[in-house]
Amino acid sequence: MSRDQGGAYASAYRRSLDDPDGFWLAAAEAIDWITPPTRALDDRAAPLYRWFPDGVLNTCFNALDRHVAAGRGDQAAIVYDSPVTDTRRRLSYAELLDLTARFAGVLRGLGVGRGDRVVLYLPMVPEAVVAMLACARLGAVHSVVFGGFAAHELAVRIDDARPTVVVAASCGIEPTRTIAYKPLVDAALAEATHRPDHVVILQRPQLIPELADADVDWDTAMASAEPVGCVPVAATDPLYILYTSGTTGPPKGIVRDNGGHAVALRWSMENIYGVRPGEVSWTASDVGWVVGHSYIVYAPLLTGCTSVLYEGKPVGTPDAGAFWRVAAEHRTTMLFTAPTAFRAIRKADPEGKLLAGHDLSALRALFLAGERLDPETYRWAGDLLGVPVVDNWWQTETGWPIVADPIGLEPQPTRPGSPTLPVPGYDVRILDPDGVEVPPGTDGCVVLKLPMPPGTLTGLWGDDARYVASYLTAFPGHYLTGDGGRKDADGYVYVMGRTDDVINVAGHRLSTGSMEEVLAGHPDVAECAVIGVADELKGQVPRGLVVLKAGVDREPAEVAEELVRRVRDTIGAVAALRRVDVVPTLPKTRSGKILRRTMRDIADGKRPEPPSTIEDPTVLDALRPTLVDE
Ligand code: COA
Ligand code: AMP
Repeated sequence: MSRDQGGAYASAYRRSLDDPDGFWLAAAEAIDWITPPTRALDDRAAPLYRWFPDGVLNTCFNALDRHVAAGRGDQAAIVYDSPVTDTRRRLSYAELLDLTARFAGVLRGLGVGRGDRVVLYLPMVPEAVVAMLACARLGAVHSVVFGGFAAHELAVRIDDARPTVVVAASCGIEPTRTIAYKPLVDAALAEATHRPDHVVILQRPQLIPELADADVDWDTAMASAEPVGCVPVAATDPLYILYTSGTTGPPKGIVRDNGGHAVALRWSMENIYGVRPGEVSWTASDVGWVVGHSYIVYAPLLTGCTSVLYEGKPVGTPDAGAFWRVAAEHRTTMLFTAPTAFRAIRKADPEGKLLAGHDLSALRALFLAGERLDPETYRWAGDLLGVPVVDNWWQTETGWPIVADPIGLEPQPTRPGSPTLPVPGYDVRILDPDGVEVPPGTDGCVVLKLPMPPGTLTGLWGDDARYVASYLTAFPGHYLTGDGGRKDADGYVYVMGRTDDVINVAGHRLSTGSMEEVLAGHPDVAECAVIGVADELKGQVPRGLVVLKAGVDREPAEVAEELVRRVRDTIGAVAALRRVDVVPTLPKTRSGKILRRTMRDIADGKRPEPPSTIEDPTVLDALRPTLVDE
């Protein structure tokens, strides 16, 4: 049933746009407030919108205390399943509350109060959830940095967020190696100009570095910690900052509020994902990404679910049957991951033989997001698992789905290649470059008519002007998603990919601009370009092209190797830049703009028309063999 007809989805969608106050105040009843809001939307500072301006609450209370008070104390809140350390650990709501209240006591003892920032550099361990919720308990603002980022990226985030405390683990564990975090934290602090007052280190048994006198040991501090209660905060106060890549400039600190976030995520868990209180959900992502923030931690806990925290990979820990083992063992009702994970499983086990013997009868749906869902993966996963495969499109900025099949509310007929229909609260429009809405079937810029629903970003940390300039200026009255796409005549949305230089590598969002900055910093490099090219497994991978300075007479392979290492050391292994080619010159327009898109199309096997503004078409011809040769 499409949204023009009369079902539950259609009426919810219409009401969310016609009467946002009524719709979201009703949804807000699923949250426990210290002072219940009397209003939902606050448009006084438009285009900067706020939600629930007079509401007061505590997010941690809603995620933990109220469930214990309501009798869920013995239910598992978190099931930690870590094949890389061969560990399983069940944490009940009562246990998670106790740890969180005591770690909040540790943070308070280190001077953290309402509004202070705490940077968390933690892998997929229960303490990551404890630390996030402990910040929320104090009204402090956490900022989790993904473990795959190197010291420089951590330093940039520390300088922007200016945390009172940094909390890190001693190590992260990848299938083939243990990553020592402490040297990365030390290097980041040496590079950063901001000094946190304290660094807390969680010593994992796999790696126990020596701590400096000033460092605080997690276990020692917890041994004498007193639990503390929840600090009331305004619904509009920040809950967290999560950095994400933009086209240019430093990473953007996406700010999430407390009230709108709690209401939206609680609503989404039942209405989009169809998971009810007491059920088991599993999101195989990482707490360092928005998918992890929203659907490993906050939405399941706000709903009173059991959330599986999986420290492992889809393949290699130990094999491509790992997901089936976890889903069966913990009887998960939903599995949410990125399409890359399924492409990796399919590559290793094309016939899905490793599914045999695993009872997935509890699984009701598979959700995929983070990158475009290719039809092959969609079909393969659906055929193998025999449950609906739900593509959902969203981004760090929105915090929860923009377009999805809201199976909890009312499942919609799906169409191949489309994540289905706009979620209630989101007014999705397709505009041409002049800001005029295009007819159905025509490609354009995907934008969201303001206001966006609760739970979406309230701005960029400390920089409203950048928020307005980056997202709200191209098409006044609309939020620019950065994605291109179209709608069909029935309102189904098709997302075709980024219109900027952001690339998506294995569901990880990365900026080619920041990789170019690193390459350009090499003393032998005169100019460079990084493009995202299609990759069977990861969707896209970055490739570098560099021109050496006149007079540099070195082996190109040697320079290329240094450049690959430089990106890995500066941005992190997650950048996955494995190939850099030294070329005599780069194709440009007459005004000097490098033709990145044309190069990308050639590398992807297309035969693009060179733009009429090209300075010298022979440059492109000379480059063709390098670009197409794999
Ligand atoms: N900490 C430290 N390093 C990390 C890391 C982390 N949390 N996550 C990844 N890395 C490293 C990897 O070890 C790898 O290092 P290498 O170059 O030495 O091999 C590098 O970063 C690239 O990682 P990745 O892009 O994940 O590639 P991979 O080849 O290791 O694994 C997949 C491929 C498909 C198995 C993997 O990308 C995956 O599980 N994807 C699921 C997608 C996902 O969870 N997306 C999150 C958004 S929903
Ligand atoms: P991130 O902020 O890291 O979640 O990345 C968001 C970007 O990933 C979006 O702007 C899209 O380009 C892409 N993306 C996420 N989910 C989907 C999806 N379901 N289909 C197509 N692209 C997606």
